[in-house]
Formats: sequence, C-alpha cells, structure tokens
Amino acid sequence: MVNYSEIMSAKSIHKIGILTSGGDSPGMNAAIRAVVRTAIYHKMEVFGILHGYSGMVNDDIIKMDTKSVANIIQRGGTILKTARCKEFMTPEGRSKAYKNLQKRGIEGLVIIGGDGSFRGAQVFSNEYNIPCIGLPGTIDKDIAGTDFTIGFDTAVNTAVEAIDKIRDTADAHDRLFIIEVMGRDAGYIALHSGIATGAENILIPERKTNIDEIIEALKEKEKRKKLVNIIIVAEGEEFGGANEVSNYIKDKLPKTEVRVCILGHIQRGGSPSCMDRVIASRMGYHAVDCLLEGKFNVFVGIVNNKMHSIPLNEAVKKKQRINDEWIKMVKILAS
Ligand code: F6P
Repeated sequence: MVNYSEIMSAKSIHKIGILTSGGDSPGMNAAIRAVVRTAIYHKMEVFGILHGYSGMVNDDIIKMDTKSVANIIQRGGTILKTARCKEFMTPEGRSKAYKNLQKRGIEGLVIIGGDGSFRGAQVFSNEYNIPCIGLPGTIDKDIAGTDFTIGFDTAVNTAVEAIDKIRDTADAHDRLFIIEVMGRDAGYIALHSGIATGAENILIPERKTNIDEIIEALKEKEKRKKLVNIIIVAEGEEFGGANEVSNYIKDKLPKTEVRVCILGHIQRGGSPSCMDRVIASRMGYHAVDCLLEGKFNVFVGIVNNKMHSIPLNEAVKKKQRINDEWIKMVKILAS
C-alpha cells in the first residue's frame, strides 16, 4: 500500500501531464498557465490531457509550450476542457489511461478539480505508483485543508452581484424572493453570498431546513411591515431547492408575493477575480515544486496565506465544516 503523504526517493521528473476535471471553475486557466510555465522553466516537458480523465483513457493528449497558455489568465472555463469520466472509475479504463501516459513517458500528473477528481487521482496513483498533485479547483469550496479553492471567489461574487440586483426589484415591489445558488453538496456559496447581501434566511445542505420556523418569522415580519425578504437556497438543500421552498411558502402564506430566481451556471463562468487568478497562480507554481521535491499524492492548499501540501486523502475523507457561529450570526443580522 502506498502511503499518501510519502515523499518519493529522489527520482527526478522530466515529463508531466496536466488536466482539469469535474465542474469547471474560474481560475482553472490561470492554474494551467502557472503549471505549464513553471514546469518549462524547470526544463520539464508538459502534456495537456483534454476533457479530464477521458482524455487520458482515450489518448486525447497534446504537447504544450509557453505559447499554449498565452492570453488565458483572464478567461473563465478551461482551455483543456473538462468532464466527469465514468470509464476512469473502472480498472480497465485506468489501465488504458496508464498505457497512454507510459507511451509518452509521462511520470507525474497535476490534476485541477474537486474532491471527486482527487478521489480518481488517489485510486490511479495507488494502482500505478505515479505521483499525482491536486489543485483544488471548485466553485463549491468544499475541500478540507485549504482556505481557498480556485473559482469560489469569482462564483460567489457573481452570485452577490445578481442578488443585489434582485433586491432592487424585490424592494420596489415589496416581494419575497427565493434565490437558488449552486452547491449540490455544499452551502458555501449560499452562506457567503447570503451574508454579503443581507439575506433573511440561508438554506444549505449541511443543516436541516426548518421551513415552519421560516414561515413563522415571515408572519412576524409582515406584522412589522418588513415585506422585502430574500431567502438564499443552495441547490442541494434538503427541502429540494428554491421552487419547492416557494411552493410550500405560497401554500402557507397565500397573500405573500413570492418570486423564484435560479442563478444556475452563470456562477461557473466569467472572468476570474483577481483573488482567483492569484491563488491559482500560486498553487500552480507550487504544484511543480511538489513534483520536483518528490511529493506523492498531495494537493496544494493555502492556509493562513502559506502554501501547504496536504495528503489527497485528507481532502477526500473530510469535508469543510460550516461554522455554527456564522449560522447564528445570519439570524441575528437579518432580524
Ligand atoms: O462544480 C460544482 C457544481 O457547480 C455544483 O455546485 C453543482 O451542483 C454541479 O457542479 C453542477 O454540475 P453540472 O454542471 O454537471 O450540472
């Protein structure tokens, strides 16, 4: 069994592959640029693996140079394309993938993606003894062991900008708006965007939704003539999402004017914020250092503004924890 935090004996790496996997996130291109240019600075050859792990399985692999990553730092999406690959979850798929790496002499991988992508990296590395360095690229911010993930800052600012606009019209009409943000398994976008826009309630997958308590609070607010209310719902919240919450509220409070807005994939696109470009650059640069130092199966995180390499295992096993104090604060500030 491979020990995931193990430092390999000094075997130098000359050829690396890079891929983006899972949901794209703004800043992935900045990370690709940083990895490619740092690796080339260290005289490595770099191969871009297209469409995530599918490119590895189907031999969709290109040679990259410094020019391949010109003029991309400001662009959303990922020039390497991305996918969620079912075949890579099978031993046969991974065997095909390994052969494709072997035939080019690729000795190490940088994988930019979320926890599902890290899980794939871990299994692959375990089977074929190939060093994999993860970069946390997800708008959901649901990776333990790092203060930031690439794309969260841009996504949450996109949500905040949209919610501010909705509040204008909600205010003009004295309406209750229920706004759904992304986050199938994680409430960070909901929590941060909700706090930043002064939302009355924030419903997230990590907490039970007490819908009747929300109804009571709305009734009480109506008595006080507080008619403009914003409820932020993460898509994976247990009640089922913004439409379900709206239907329930309309049923219980038929006189309340309720509107729903689902922000959707707008949160995944767009030019990355300065913060996402900077952390992506720092993480990409550090990923190459990790490979050079012989680190094995770690992902690069930033904690207290310092670079860390954390066993992939940690990201895969643990989830970021939502702070209860934040939940308490939301209630107090929205009163
Ligand atoms: O990348 C994470 C994420 O945006 C989640 O917040 C969301 O639930 C999911 O991806 C949506 O995935 P897809 O684009 O495949 O529908």
